[in-house]
Amino acid sequence: MRTVHFSGRLVGRQEETGRLAGLTAAARAGRGGALVLTGEPGTGKSALLDHARRTADGMRLVRACGSRFEKELPFAALHQLCLPMLGHLSELPAQHHDALRSAFGPAPGARDVSRVGPAVLDLLSRAARAQPLLCLIDDAHWLDSASSHVLAFLARRIAGEPVAMVFAARPAGAAGELTGLPGLSLSGLSDTDARMLLASLSHTAVDDQVRRRLVLEARGNPLALLEVPSAGGYAPLDTSSVPSPTERGHRSRIEALPADVRLLLTVASADPTGDAALLWAAARHLGIDAMASAAAATAAGLAEFATQVRFCHPLARSAAYRAAAPGERRRVHGALAAVTDPATDPDRRAWHRAQAASS
Ligand SMILES: Nc1ncnc2c1ncn2[C@@H]1O[C@H](COP(=O)(O)OP(=O)(O)O)[C@@H](O)[C@H]1O
Ligand SMILES: [Mg+2]
Repeated sequence: MRTVHFSGRLVGRQEETGRLAGLTAAARAGRGGALVLTGEPGTGKSALLDHARRTADGMRLVRACGSRFEKELPFAALHQLCLPMLGHLSELPAQHHDALRSAFGPAPGARDVSRVGPAVLDLLSRAARAQPLLCLIDDAHWLDSASSHVLAFLARRIAGEPVAMVFAARPAGAAGELTGLPGLSLSGLSDTDARMLLASLSHTAVDDQVRRRLVLEARGNPLALLEVPSAGGYAPLDTSSVPSPTERGHRSRIEALPADVRLLLTVASADPTGDAALLWAAARHLGIDAMASAAAATAAGLAEFATQVRFCHPLARSAAYRAAAPGERRRVHGALAAVTDPATDPDRRAWHRAQAASS
């Protein structure tokens, strides 16, 4: 997958970074607190945690990440979080010491959340006495339940400690234990921010109309915007690289559709402008029953057809393109060239003609 990882400054997200700055500043002053960021995959939760890490001057970072493979393993995530602090273990009173040893150690013992919670709180506050702590817990929707119980317990008891805890989770999967903690739900980037993110990708040489269509289809999801280069502008769509799992999912839905519907989607995918008038003209040229096919593609949730054609995701567009056989793609570009006005859009027409000859 040609996903580009944006490693520079975050685009937009002023409210979120403001909340994070407030949280860490308060923690440094001894007023601890927690924040749960929720958002769909790709909305930028991990990017915000990373931002918190980079900007939390003077704080010691401890982190854990939920894992779907360790979801059934009691205290797996908590162990990750505590590992760098275990140097303080010998300072703990025997009962806390034992609770942690039984939670993390191989020795069988009561893995009792109500004993482990206070023990970890003790550990955390001892570590924080040396340096304020920033605890980042990513993919909290995959936390094992023992860890999420303890982490939620901690989050409710750090008000008097120099400790900030930030969780990131998917909306539906956020562990029930975290509900009730201060939360912030991430929606898509604004159109302006989405355009700015797209513009920061120097390799996407796209014209205005194409850019509008890309922003529309990505719905402000940063990951979808970053995946856009593989979803095509006026560059030949790459049909040889390995498709991402997202794209493969769209592709299997497309392949289950009747031939006419697939062909209509191929036409839509081959035209980077998303201009519906052009699509209808090309469909007529190819003898497709455009209205019925558009209705079927809409019903399948793959695309919407108004004055602009809008795929449900930029990668649905590339999936439609790749699902077609090379000869079919050539035929589709030929049809698009035939219906593109040579007087007003000579460049686009030439581009489609070139694709018709070679793609
Ligand atoms: N505000 C932003 N500005 C720039 N890039 C971003 C922004 N938000 C997310 N990204 C980038 O988008 C991609 C997906 O974000 P990520 O944080 O991994 O999403 P999530 O953790 O919510 O699934 C990453 O490559 C990330 O760097
Ligand atoms: Mg993430």
